[in-house]
Amino acid sequence: MDVAAPALSPAGSADPQPPPRRADPCAFVIFGASGDLTKRLLVPALYNLAAARLLPDDFAVIGVARGDVSDDAFRDRMREALQEFATGSASPEVVRDLTARFSYLRGDFDDPNTYRSLKDKLSAAERTFRTGGNCLFYLATPPNVFALVAQQLADVGLLREEGGRWRRLVIEKPFGTDLDSARELDRRLLGLMSESQIYRIDHYLGKETVQNIMVLRFANGLFEPLWNRDHIDHVEITVTETLTVENRGKFYDGTGALRDMVPNHLFQLLALTAMEPPVRFDADAVRSEKAKAIEAIRPLTPDDVCHDVVRAQYRGGTVGSRRIHAYREESGVDPNSMTETYLAMRLAIDNWRWAGVPFYLRTGKALAARRTEIAINFKAAPFALFRRTPVERLAQNLLVLRIQPDEGASLQFNAKTPGPEILIGGVRMDFKYADYFETAPNTGYETLIYDCMIGDATLFQRADNIESGWRVVQPILDAWREGRDCADLTWYAAGSEGPREAEELLARDGRAWRKIA
Ligand code: BG6
Repeated sequence: MDVAAPALSPAGSADPQPPPRRADPCAFVIFGASGDLTKRLLVPALYNLAAARLLPDDFAVIGVARGDVSDDAFRDRMREALQEFATGSASPEVVRDLTARFSYLRGDFDDPNTYRSLKDKLSAAERTFRTGGNCLFYLATPPNVFALVAQQLADVGLLREEGGRWRRLVIEKPFGTDLDSARELDRRLLGLMSESQIYRIDHYLGKETVQNIMVLRFANGLFEPLWNRDHIDHVEITVTETLTVENRGKFYDGTGALRDMVPNHLFQLLALTAMEPPVRFDADAVRSEKAKAIEAIRPLTPDDVCHDVVRAQYRGGTVGSRRIHAYREESGVDPNSMTETYLAMRLAIDNWRWAGVPFYLRTGKALAARRTEIAINFKAAPFALFRRTPVERLAQNLLVLRIQPDEGASLQFNAKTPGPEILIGGVRMDFKYADYFETAPNTGYETLIYDCMIGDATLFQRADNIESGWRVVQPILDAWREGRDCADLTWYAAGSEGPREAEELLARDGRAWRKIA
């Protein structure tokens, strides 16, 4: 992850930064090349990297999937994908040059012949495109074949790093479905290659605004002295979506909001908010601090799960002007499904910085608005000074980091309302990314892919990061499986702010969520 010096002037007038270095020569192998991820995100991201001249000159892409497709037909499909999913208007020259490097291999993931053929194809790519024998294997596949593909790659020697060549494996989420399965997957992968060869993706870390959390905290003298239990009352982390499960009903029904969003995306936000300053801006230092923050979360007892975790499912309703069916009526979903599409929880972080500061997390589908944000609620100022004035209460100082949409940050504080009397109103200072930085629209995968190619793992999850996330949610999965009455599923209307029980979770502490719409 490259960090450039800050721009202090509005968009357009910032000093130009030297371009980052081009990635190493390599072959990019996509397992699951006929899938959605490839055409919607990976190929458009490769295009953006090519257009920004960040891809190496010596580069090849090999798509692997089951369908019987010729090289030419594969290139045509990828060109069509770019027409549909490129994030801006695609330059025909860049598209031509990029897709000329694409080839296709038909093969079953469990067939050793697939990997023997892949080895031959990689040798050919090394000769034609001078890839130097470096390979990035991207598993855009269902999770149940992650270990299988890795094993087969290892069996034909494709994971061996020799003579200065690197071999890296990129794995999409979900990484396991609980603590045991995540550990087992790690055990199998680490039996085949070293930790430094594994890049576990959490696409939230590809978002500029997520990367900015660390910069905001550690590149400013202003916030860090206040960033602790002495000054912060509570923290709210919100990731709400208006989307339903769309066409992923079958997958989602076996997964649910907790597994889908919490140990990965929400815990990334939590870790970046709660971590101690790393000693260096490098992969191991950053990931160690993030792991420590998650490990400091107080383990939930079965009673805590009853009191501090709310799970709910959406019923029919309206999101904007869109009429939404109940979750149970979605295709691929069991009509009696008890899967949660919403989750809210209160967590405590038991360390010197955060003891006594609740972290409230919520996420859900089919809600009133799409909003990902971290709200840092500061402690109220002492009121005594205003006792003999008409001021009834002071607004809380609030720092909101808006991850998406409307990326930016705002700080709320109290100001005197003009007039002869002492009246006080909450006002807001607002920073919008778009006002300061001109960023080309992107898929969010560009930085991640580029970082894999230059061997920078800062934005990827280490085995211990994944396992510490699962360790926190495991007691919740256990309590739900045991079917304790108090941990029952509740309901909310599609298009609403979420279930009443989530409001009650904060109301019990004398607090309220920020409105999402
Ligand atoms: C994915 C989840 O990891 O993240 C989806 O599987 C969810 O269910 C998505 O919709 C949210 O990502 P974003 O970038 O739209 O916030």
